[in-house]
This record gives sequence, structure tokens and C-alpha cells, in this order.
Amino acid sequence: MLSEDPTKRTLADLGVTDAIQLAFRFTELRAQLQRDLKRAKESGEWDMLRETWIGSPDSVKSRITTNWLRTAPPGLQPAVARDLENLINEVFILSTVMRSLDQLGTAQADQVAAQFLKLQQVFDTEIEECVDEIDLGVSRTFWLGRSSGVLTHITDSWLKTASPQLKRVVGAEFNKLKTHVESKIEERRTAIEAGAEEASLAREGVDLSLPGVIRPVGSHHLIRQVLQEVEDIFFSIGFSVVEGPEIETPYYNFEALNIPEFHPVRDDMDTFYLQLPKGAPEPLLLRTHTSPMQIRTMEKRQPPVRVIVPGKVYRRDNPDATHSFIFHQVEGLAVDTDITFCDFTGTIEYFVKQFFGPGVKTRFRPSYFPFTEPSVEFDVSCIFCGGSGTAAGGGNCSKCKGAGWIELFGAGMVDPAVYGFVNYDAKKVSGFAFGMGIDRLAMLKYGIDDIQVFFQNDVRFLRQFP
Ligand code: PHE
Repeated sequence: MLSEDPTKRTLADLGVTDAIQLAFRFTELRAQLQRDLKRAKESGEWDMLRETWIGSPDSVKSRITTNWLRTAPPGLQPAVARDLENLINEVFILSTVMRSLDQLGTAQADQVAAQFLKLQQVFDTEIEECVDEIDLGVSRTFWLGRSSGVLTHITDSWLKTASPQLKRVVGAEFNKLKTHVESKIEERRTAIEAGAEEASLAREGVDLSLPGVIRPVGSHHLIRQVLQEVEDIFFSIGFSVVEGPEIETPYYNFEALNIPEFHPVRDDMDTFYLQLPKGAPEPLLLRTHTSPMQIRTMEKRQPPVRVIVPGKVYRRDNPDATHSFIFHQVEGLAVDTDITFCDFTGTIEYFVKQFFGPGVKTRFRPSYFPFTEPSVEFDVSCIFCGGSGTAAGGGNCSKCKGAGWIELFGAGMVDPAVYGFVNYDAKKVSGFAFGMGIDRLAMLKYGIDDIQVFFQNDVRFLRQFP
């Protein structure tokens, strides 16, 4: 061996202070052992190999015992002892199974059996000492490894070279050992796995009788709940839902709805325009109502059309108890060949009674929208004072200001001019449209007097509507 042979120095000298560094040193020794084995196989000098590694007072084994084991810190000592034992076993086993039976001086059947028995004993001790998957993996490779496992060596060195008289017994013993090794490894693996599970349960200290962690479950926002209620009512009479973009072009938001560029109603509705890069093809704005979806729907579908359009809309309103720059609408549109004003009022009446209850009365007043003709404003009898206009404690009802009616939403028969924008034949079709504020419906139904609470996300408010 070379003069810088590590087994001639102490672990402290080598700077080995933990099991990992130690394992590295033993790996180096194993590589050296493999080289020596190969040389011995070629030269047949097996006695010298054993001398070098385990036999003489100056063997690797003695040096490790003196220089490493005796001087190792107490914490590292068991690891050194174990690694050394494994190394010695390896020298012993490999120098046995890499020689032919001839070289071993084994010529009788009972000697063959004895050789196999010795191997099995070493294996049995080794496998008992495997404490985890890693140990087991190393042993499995050492014994069963395809290219240079012990059993492969036995096949090459013993079986193939055995004399005709011994072949049978070697084959039988070989099979016995192989079965033994395989079943023991499997057995040990199951035991280690079971132990690992137990150990990890113990480590984690899981107490299955403890109550679980209660995670708060969210609920739908009141606006979403009311939207679903409205949708369900319209579903029941044959409407379906469509949704559209919140960023619109002036064409859909205004022009196609019969609101030309300089029409005065734009003043009420002009809204947030997007800042676009120079050279953008056309301006874009946040939609002021859900009515653009009337156009988008009719462009795509032929009558009969029966849709509702829920969604967010935006206006340049200053926030107060009844105004917000963002709020929610549900648009309605029904177009067919024979829709009359009666269908329109009947539909609205049905909705209002379903939503607020059968006791509620409705009325409409003439109004104006450029895209409906005639246009109306729908009112419901005041939900708070029962339409009397008088508060429970006397005096005017504060909600309807003594009027007994509350303004609910705008609507009307679709203006024939609108059909021109979507290539419908205004002579053949007719229909109605409406647009209601969901926030307003929710405020009326649930007695909420400030629209801002919908957008503040205060859980004390939200929790009241689980
Ligand atoms: N879009 C109108 C608004 O937001 C409401 C409306 C819709 C009126 C449909 C008539 C028909 O005020």
C-alpha cells in the first residue's frame, strides 16, 4: 500500500468526525479491495490477498482496529466497528466465492455443503443487522447484484467449473442459498417497513382522538345570492343566461343602442374611458349598462331570443348611500315574431311577485330610453310600509318618502331602430327589454340602507347572509 495509506493514520488526523465521512473512507477501501480481488483472480495469489487484508498483524484489519477503532471518539466507535466487520466479511466472502472449488480445496459433497453453510451464516448475521432501507439495499446488491453479487460469483466460479460429480450438489446448494437469501431479504424489508411506520407515527405524535382544525367555510356574497335568485326565476319561464365583456366599444355601449355620438343622454352615462396607446383603432370604455349585450346577442342569434345578462357595470357616480361607481345589473331581452306589451308587463309582474312575494303590487310610468319605445319605469309598492306611505310608528315611511311606491327599473319595447343595427326585420319581430339593478333589489329585499356595504367586504356584514 502507498505511504499515504489512510489506515496508517488516526481518524482525527484524517479529519473524519462523523459517520458520513467515515462511510466515505470505507467506500475508498472497498474500491481498493475490488482492485486487489481482480488481481488475485488473475494471478491466483489468494493467500496474499487474505494476508494483506485480514491475516497478518500488519493487515488492513489490524491497522483499522488500532488507528481508527481504538482512537475513535465514543460516538463514532460503533460505526467504525460495524463498518470494519462488514469489510472483513466482504474480504472473506469475496475471496471465497471468486475462487474455484478446486482452488478452495473442496472436492467432496459434504465440503461443498459446509462452504454454503458458512456463507449462509455470514449472510444471516448481516441481514439481522440491517436497520433501514439503505442497509438493506446495500446487502441486496452485495448478495443478489447481477454483475458482481455473491450469487453471481458462485455461478461463475463454483458452478461452471465444478467437476461432473459435484455439479449436482453445487446446483442444489446454490438454489437453496438463493431462495434463502431472497426470502430473508423480503422478510426483513417488511419488518423494516412496519417498523418505519410505527416509528414515524410515534415521532409525529399523532393523536387520532384530538378534534380536527375547523376551517371557516365561505359563502356567496349577498349580490351573488340575489343574482342566482333572479336567474332561477327567469330560468323558470324559459330565459337563459349570457354574459359579456365589461370593457366595451362605444359602438356597442351607445351607437348600436340608438345613442349617437352627441346625444344628450350620453351625459348621464359617459363613463371611464381606458387610456390606450397612441394609434389604438378605437376608444374603449367600461360599460355603463348591460344593454350592449342586447346587440351582441342579436348579432349572433336569430329570434326567438330570450336571455338575461347579469354583470358588473360602471358609472362616473360619486359614492353615497344609493350610488356607487360600480354596481350590478341584470339585463333582459325577449324578441320573437309576436311579442306584445302584455307579454312584457306579464313577465315583469311574474318576476316581481316571485322575488318580493305575492302581496307586492307593480305599476309603470312612461319614461325614455333611446333603445326602447315606448319606455317605462317600473315601480313596486313599498316593501317597508306595505304601500301605505306611512311608517309603522307614524309619520312618512323613510324608504319611499311617503309615496308608497319604489322605483325599481327601466324597461320598454325594443325600439325598431335597434333592429336595424343587428339585421333583424323590424316589420316581422317585436320584443321587450329591461335592465334592473341587482344591488337595489338586494337592498330592498333585505332592508339594507347603504349600497357601499356591498363593496367593503366587511365580514361582520357578509356573515349576516350565510
Ligand atoms: N340600460 C338601461 C340603464 O342602465 C336600463 C334599460 C335596459 C332600459 C333595457 C330599457 C331597456 O339605465
